[in-house]
This record gives sequence, C-alpha cells and structure tokens, in this order.
Amino acid sequence: MATPFPADHPLLSGAFEPLRMECDCPDLMIEGEIPPELSGTLYRIGPNPQFAPLGTYNPLQGDGMIHGFTIGGGRVAYRNRWVRTRQWSLERQAGRALFSTSDPRAHDASVAGMESQGAANTHIVAHAGRLLALEEGHLPIEINPLTLETLGPFDFGARLPGAMTAHPKVCPETGEMFAFTNFPFQRFDATLALQVIDAAGAVVRPASLVGPYPAFVHDFAITRRHVVFVVCPLTLSLERLRAGGPPLAWEPDRSAFLGLMPRTGAAEDVLWFPAPACMAWHLMNAHEDGGLIHVDLCQQAAPAFPSADGTSAPEADLRQFLTRWTLDPGSAQPVSARRLSDLVCEYPRIDERRTGLSYRYGYVAALGGPGTGDMLHRAIGRYDHASGEMRLWRAPDRQAVSEPVFVARSAAAPEGDGYLLVAVFDEARNASHLAVLDAQRIEAGPVAQAHLDHRVPAGFHGSFVPTA
Ligand SMILES: [Fe+2]
Repeated sequence: MATPFPADHPLLSGAFEPLRMECDCPDLMIEGEIPPELSGTLYRIGPNPQFAPLGTYNPLQGDGMIHGFTIGGGRVAYRNRWVRTRQWSLERQAGRALFSTSDPRAHDASVAGMESQGAANTHIVAHAGRLLALEEGHLPIEINPLTLETLGPFDFGARLPGAMTAHPKVCPETGEMFAFTNFPFQRFDATLALQVIDAAGAVVRPASLVGPYPAFVHDFAITRRHVVFVVCPLTLSLERLRAGGPPLAWEPDRSAFLGLMPRTGAAEDVLWFPAPACMAWHLMNAHEDGGLIHVDLCQQAAPAFPSADGTSAPEADLRQFLTRWTLDPGSAQPVSARRLSDLVCEYPRIDERRTGLSYRYGYVAALGGPGTGDMLHRAIGRYDHASGEMRLWRAPDRQAVSEPVFVARSAAAPEGDGYLLVAVFDEARNASHLAVLDAQRIEAGPVAQAHLDHRVPAGFHGSFVPTA
C-alpha cells in the first residue's frame, strides 16, 4: 500500500508534489490560439518519485516522468508516463520505495548491492531517430516517441562508458551530436570522456581527456571548431569521504577552468585556461569570434554545497546571472568574465539552429531560484546580445514557469522568429498549462494556453521534436 508523501517537504509539496497518475488527454482546452505552424511534440522531464522516499529525498535521483505535449492543427494532445527503469519496476511491484535516492547503503535489503539504472529524469533529447531520457550518472534510456513507452537503456552499440551527460549538443551544420561522460571510470578522477555521434547515430570519435581536477561537470558547449568545457571547483574526493567529510564540496581556492579542444583533435590537444572561481550549471551557447571564444553561461559566485570544512556560502552568492566568458588564448589573463544582465536567471536556451555559432537571442527562466528565497522561477526572459536588453514576461501571481524551449516558426525563419513553449504551474488551480509565447514579443504574454487538470511537477529540461 502506497503511503503519503511527507506533507511539509519543500521538494515534495506544492509545485514539486509528485503526480501519481499516468494519463492521455487527446484534446486539451485552449485559451487563445495555438499558432497553426506549430507542429510537433514538446517533451519535458523531471523527478516524480513513484513512492514516498526511503530516508532523505534527493530529487536528482527521483524517478523521471515524461510529459509530452503534441501540437498540430491548432490542437494540443497530452500524455505522461514514468520512465520504467529497473528500480521503478521493482518498486511498482513492491508498492513502496526500495532504493534510497541519497545513499545506496540505505537501500532496502531486498535490493542491496543492486545496480541502479538511474532515474532518467534530467533531459530528454532526440537524435538519429531515437528519443533518449537522460540522467548524467547512467546510460540514456530509449523512449518510444509516440507512446512514451520505455524501450530500455541505450549505449550506442556499447560505445558509451556507462553514462552520458544530460546536455549533449547537436551541431546544426554537421548534424553531429557531441556528448561527454563525467567520471567515465566510475571513480572520482579528473577524466572526461568525449563522444562525437554522427547524424546517423554512430560514435565516430571517442576521446578521453584529463581535466584540472575531479569536478562535477553538468554541461558543456561546442563552437564551429572546438569543444568547450567549463570546470568549476565543485569537487569530488574519495579521500575526503573516507576522512568523514562530504564527497562533494565547494573548493573556492581552486580556479575554475575553461577547457578548449579542437573538434577534430585528439584528447592531448585540450588546453586548460584558469578562470575566476565560480559555479555554472548550464551554458547558453559558445562561439568563435576571430581569435576569441565567447562562452555564455548562468553563473553563481558559489553553489548550494558546503565547503570541505562544512561552511556554506552566503545566500546572496547563490544567485545566478547571465555572464559572458571571453577566452583570448594569447593574453596573460586569458579568460575574462562580464555580467550581461542583472536579472537573476537560469535554464538558458537558444534557437538551436545557432548552437556553436554567433547568435543574437538567448532565453531564460528568471526571477527566482537559488539565493532569491523562492525555489521557483516567475518570469521568462529574452536576452538580446546585440542590444544588451533583457525583455521579460512575468507570469501572473502564484504561477511559476519552467525552462523555455524555442521552436522556430519555420525551418527558413530567421533566428529568434518563433515561439517559446513553457510549462506553467498555477498554484491557485494546483494544475499546469502549456503557455505559448511569441519569442519576438514575449512581454505581450502567451498567445495560447493549453490547460491540464493536473500538475506538471517542477522539472528540469525538455526538447521540441518537429513532426517529421
Ligand atoms: Fe541541467
């Protein structure tokens, strides 16, 4: 018998309260007008634990649930499914949580020592005809794009070292997907494995490179000629763990580093350039500019993880701001950082036809997040790199927004001409809707809203896959 979730847990209540059902709704009620040119499916994913947690709840390991909004002919159909990982299936059978999300030593005795397949809860991307649910510590899980049925772990023909980033990047010019693996040897060392996966889905150029120190690396970037790593001093250490300290700790005395590797080069061609210590979970984009490389990211002075000695950074240091790093390899101080906007923001996205290329517009979830006293974001921003202007749409009171996903009006439309798809949680209704914003006029608010009768719990990332 399933037991209630702890009512007062901040990550299991309100906008985060897990949804306990799977459903299909073929025709959502629409306010406004869905642009007729929108045709495809927005897949969103996030943690949605099936059962009340065993011990301390860590949302990074909460069961992934996929929410699919299929748009076409002015209508929106909706379907949601859990990713049926091994642990999800065993727990469904048992009717309760068996796996601890925070400490494998606390698993139920019936599954002690069993390998987890991960939670498949962080991002969902399509490449070479496959839809993959991603969580960086484990293999991708392949999903049927129509039914959302779980097809099982996918390792690109045994070419992945056991895990893959949740933030691969697809080059719009070659169709190649670039991915990496943090800790490919399942030990806390500084190795990063790089995979280049061609447009047909074959791993063509695997490489294994050595970073400056063992660090938690969540995202990366590409340019037309390079792969760009941003390594921040949120480090992992087995020695520290053995000594009774935290395995993951903030070490601000170490520099951050920008790693630059030629896309067609070998692992030994990687160069590491020191940068001021800071934390960045997500990168907006990167591009070449003559001999310079620009890298745009949402940066915080420190993460919400304590230092090795247990001290925590002041709350204000956790706020995230859109920042441009510029690398001038020949300079005495090769990496400089410049804040682009004073608006607190996270979850940066772009018109992905400009991935790795010079670009004008970036989109963010704004007004909220770490250091603000509000775990949810309350606005969508569009940053214009040409003018430096951040335009904003503030959601109505008691509503919270997801990461915005950009969809071009047509394949030939200029950069930024299209729509932003945003899942909005409405606390007053305890339910969510899909908001469609005109990306060129976000401040005007949604042109359409497709209403659900239930929550899409606050999640992480998503992708739009156009109708073939
Ligand atoms: Fe992420």
